[in-house]
Amino acid sequence: MKKNINIEIEVYNQLSELNSSEQALILKAKEIAKQAYAPYSKFYVGAALLLDNGEIVTGNNQENAAYPSGICAERTAIFYANAQYPQAAIETLAVAVFKNNEYAEQPVTPCGSCRQVMLEAENKHQTTMRVIMIGEKQIYVANSVKDLLPLSFDSLD
Ligand code: THU
Repeated sequence: MKKNINIEIEVYNQLSELNSSEQALILKAKEIAKQAYAPYSKFYVGAALLLDNGEIVTGNNQENAAYPSGICAERTAIFYANAQYPQAAIETLAVAVFKNNEYAEQPVTPCGSCRQVMLEAENKHQTTMRVIMIGEKQIYVANSVKDLLPLSFDSLD
């Protein structure tokens, strides 16, 4: 027997296909990417969150000479949002990459550890998070983190 698991990703070719608040969030993610501390990888990632209280929180990757001590842009932003606004759910997360002096052409897709943290943010508030993965040529959008992390580990009980 086999089980097929379907995930759904929307694909956009132009920024104008998204609504104006999403376009604004995308610009914030792109802006904050340039401020990343990424002297080792030179892969500058920015994440912007729209919370359900209307706040926008941004973050970027923070690297360290002891490599595993660094952290991704998505988790920087999510942990900051959780610290500042513990009651707020994340409605939308946008993520962008700046590298080799330009924004990445293809959409950046969050790493496994970030997906796990993003999933918990959904579960904690029993909401879904729209995830906008930005590329200059294409933009991918998932309507829930569950589409990025099927068969996820949830909790011990
Ligand atoms: N990185 C992120 O910040 N987010 C991602 O989704 C992928 C990877 C960071 C980690 C590291 O600082 C650099 O990009 C290269 O992997």
